[in-house]
Amino acid sequence: AAIAPRPGSTLTFRELAHGYDEDHHVAEGYDAQVLIRWGDKVLPDAPPFEPRNLTAAAQAKQFGYNNDYVGFFPLPRGSKSSDHGLLTVNHEYTDRQLMFPGIGPEDLDRQTAEMIDIELAAHGASVVEIKREGGRWQVVETSPYNRRLTALASEFVVTGPAAGHDRLKTKADPTGTKVIGTINNCAGGETPWGTVLVAEENFHQYFRASADAGAEAANYKRMGIGDRPAYDWARFHDRFDVAKEPNEPNRFGWMVEFDPYDPKSVPKKRTALGRCKHEAATTILNGDGRLVIYSGDDEAFEYVYKFITSGKVDPANPAANADLLDAGTLYVGRFDAEGGLTWLPLVFGEGPLTSANGFHSQADVLIETRRAADLVGATPMDRPEDVEPNPVTGTVFMNLTNNTKRKDDRQDAANPRARNAHGHIIEMIPPGERGKRDHAATAYRWSIFLLAGNPANAKDGARYGGEISENGWLSCPDNMAFDREGRIWISTDGAPKFGIADGIWAADVEGPGRAMTRHFYRTPRGAEMCGPCFTPDNTTFFVAVQHPGDEAKATYEAPATRWPDFKDGVPPRPAVVAITRKDGGPVGG
Ligand code: FEO
Ligand code: CA
Ligand code: CA
Ligand code: CA
Repeated sequence: AAIAPRPGSTLTFRELAHGYDEDHHVAEGYDAQVLIRWGDKVLPDAPPFEPRNLTAAAQAKQFGYNNDYVGFFPLPRGSKSSDHGLLTVNHEYTDRQLMFPGIGPEDLDRQTAEMIDIELAAHGASVVEIKREGGRWQVVETSPYNRRLTALASEFVVTGPAAGHDRLKTKADPTGTKVIGTINNCAGGETPWGTVLVAEENFHQYFRASADAGAEAANYKRMGIGDRPAYDWARFHDRFDVAKEPNEPNRFGWMVEFDPYDPKSVPKKRTALGRCKHEAATTILNGDGRLVIYSGDDEAFEYVYKFITSGKVDPANPAANADLLDAGTLYVGRFDAEGGLTWLPLVFGEGPLTSANGFHSQADVLIETRRAADLVGATPMDRPEDVEPNPVTGTVFMNLTNNTKRKDDRQDAANPRARNAHGHIIEMIPPGERGKRDHAATAYRWSIFLLAGNPANAKDGARYGGEISENGWLSCPDNMAFDREGRIWISTDGAPKFGIADGIWAADVEGPGRAMTRHFYRTPRGAEMCGPCFTPDNTTFFVAVQHPGDEAKATYEAPATRWPDFKDGVPPRPAVVAITRKDGGPVGG
């Protein structure tokens, strides 16, 4: 039976019902417009999408696959415009069984060189100029800002302490500073000076491992290189073959920064932020003028990090911040049972991070961030996905998506459930008052915001702010966004395992509506929900529908949905959706 939501939530929308079908759905009173889909034009000279005649050359000019992070950068730069801007979107990975007729997920050896190049070109990121006119959003197809970054041909420069290190040098790049491509770009973030941060997450699955990785064997094992790769790009691209380019995997797993307002800007891999499977990176300008960046390493029993710049942000002069992310201190989190959180510095020469443990420089510490974090005693978490400061409360929220590998004997206060199938959300509380919290401090407090799952199933061990409605429960929190009121909008990845579609749930973070999640939007069959992002005035809420139709056994010929085109012969297409209120007001009320 339906449970009446506890009164006092500031959210005014009528809650959407749980469900699972071929279409997407949004709460009553809202419109959900498909804005841009896989294969749509990005570069002005891109050809039209022809699903039965894909080419790498076309894909490199078209919107990539599996949109994840979405960022909105107002135009003109520095304005607060909410009807004109640049959308930056990550393309995390590809689903060959939904892209190529007759190719199954395991058919690596049946892929042609062209198919593999299409995959490389469908990864990376897109920048597209968008405009809202007459209530409808449109892509400006002729915009000079429009840009694609791909794994196929885009050039990246490596900066910071590991740039040029021997462990990053390859036959193709003896300088150790120039990399072709970015891969598995999951979530991201933005800086106060208008650049975008793009994470490199599960980069291990693109490398064909060598039986003997030599000096890097332990490093590569820790990153999962050598597990069965999900891609066989090495067949046609030597750089993905560890036997031929033993250092190439050290050139991935970084945070990438680029300027979306300058289509010629060369993206930078910022090594000072560490190398792991970065989910995202979100920033907050600290009271002392330094920038603080939070990032999760999304794998079972991995860690949460923060980076503090050495220099101060110069808000009046974006160019002065161009290399700010190259110098600073990387910290990793340790959560204690009494509600304390200690940030432990990962600095060469300090504590165990010395040559006795195989670290000979800060570059070594950064290349093997995970091992450094192990040694200082960080707390292994239940898969840290997005970690994001709340602009209103100044506290920092962390989505821990799930971790079914956690056994009874490994539970701890911050990861309290064994076989954690539903995930949870932690709130980290820097010292100081609201609006003046010190994100540079090394001692925080923390508490659990919610334990996801279905409260009707006692075995889930779910806990929300109180009794939520039957549609209010969620599973596997992944990305998040905050609105102007500081309310949290959570996107999920994994709820279909529990009979409901992935989507968006929103809640207050304070007051009687705290952690009382309400269902707002749901994705079509087979999809996960990514990229929630508001325009500055909150009148548009962008969401990214990733891998629609991707159920087990789904194929190009028989996908689980043909969303959003619903045309015979046209496969499902990952797409970014713009949600607006029918009366034009702010989303959420
Ligand atoms: Fe790409 Fe951690 O999700
Ligand atoms: Ca994803
Ligand atoms: Ca994610
Ligand atoms: Ca995920």
